[in-house]
Amino acid sequence: MIAIIGGGICGLGIGWRLAQAGENVTVYDRGAAGMGATWAAAGMLAPQVEAEHGEEFLLPLALKSRAMWKGFAAELLSTTGIDVDYREEGTMVVGLDRDDAEYLENRLSYFQSLGLDVHWLTGYQARKREPHLARAVGSAIYSTLDHQVDNRLVAEALKTAFLGAGGILKENIEIIGVVTAGGKVSAIETAEDTILTDMVILAAGAWSRNLAGIPDSSRPLVRPLKGQMIAVQMEPENPLIESVIWGPGNGIVPSIYLAPKSNGRLVIGATVEEMGFDTELTAGGIMELLRLAWDVLPGIYDLPLVESWAGLRPASRDDAPILGPSKTKGLVLATGHHRNGILLAPLTAKAVCNYVRRGEVGESIKPFLLDRFEKAATSDV
Ligand code: GLY
Repeated sequence: MIAIIGGGICGLGIGWRLAQAGENVTVYDRGAAGMGATWAAAGMLAPQVEAEHGEEFLLPLALKSRAMWKGFAAELLSTTGIDVDYREEGTMVVGLDRDDAEYLENRLSYFQSLGLDVHWLTGYQARKREPHLARAVGSAIYSTLDHQVDNRLVAEALKTAFLGAGGILKENIEIIGVVTAGGKVSAIETAEDTILTDMVILAAGAWSRNLAGIPDSSRPLVRPLKGQMIAVQMEPENPLIESVIWGPGNGIVPSIYLAPKSNGRLVIGATVEEMGFDTELTAGGIMELLRLAWDVLPGIYDLPLVESWAGLRPASRDDAPILGPSKTKGLVLATGHHRNGILLAPLTAKAVCNYVRRGEVGESIKPFLLDRFEKAATSDV
């Protein structure tokens, strides 16, 4: 039996691929599957506009996974009947003042130096595409290839697909430890039981570093990074925007984003806060989200505020995922996806499945093995 710890988008995705291949696989989740960072996310598939200096090594992986998404969504639809709302209107980053325009000019030349297909829009051109943008929007860059999905529908579809392929899902069961002997995995433990297995895939998001029994050299140093978010409800037949819009940030919201879903839900995020496992909402966080979103899209003022929540991104030391084998035989890692868990899920599922079944570490995941942190593995993050 292959045990997957964590029933988020990566755990379920890997489980689905393994179950499809005829493996006996069980996913364990400490709560309800798909209700952690997967549920809290915004569903953006935007490696272009989210490309960052110093993270160029992540770009090929992100672009490859993005290219898989349309097929992944179609396969989920044909397998489960669940449409995960894959939307191709693209992503726009807007600026309000002269400083923002200079920042966007810089971003554009960086993106172009990476060979990415992004282009400049004047404020007028941006409003032609998205007429409800604020009059103050004076500049924008636009990426037609950065798409989005409804992450909550993806979780539902993956759960259905996994179960339909013969996978076993055990919810509300917390795995508290991994048992190893002679450098190999032999079991996992709950508070009451020991479950024998020689293959464990650790996909527990922000909780991935906390399990007892994992040798230090195999422990993924992942920490929670809090994100507060809100949603307002648009009229689905009369939405304020159709593309994903990013705008200027401030303080705990480094950049504001607005991701419209086809059911009219407009997801607005997010704070980025080093607060450990705290998921409390703060007045300041929500105020910043509303104010920054209103600056870009004033029409949200009259919309019903339908939800507010906080999620915990699983962040590694270099903000890139930790994938593939560890130093402990039978302990495989699929964690640390930081802000990119939804984007990287199809590739994570495929690559980790290939490794587990054939022992192949694919070229695309070689830069993301745990051993890149070897020198620092025993110190704290
Ligand atoms: N990927 C969106 C976020 O981390 O806020």
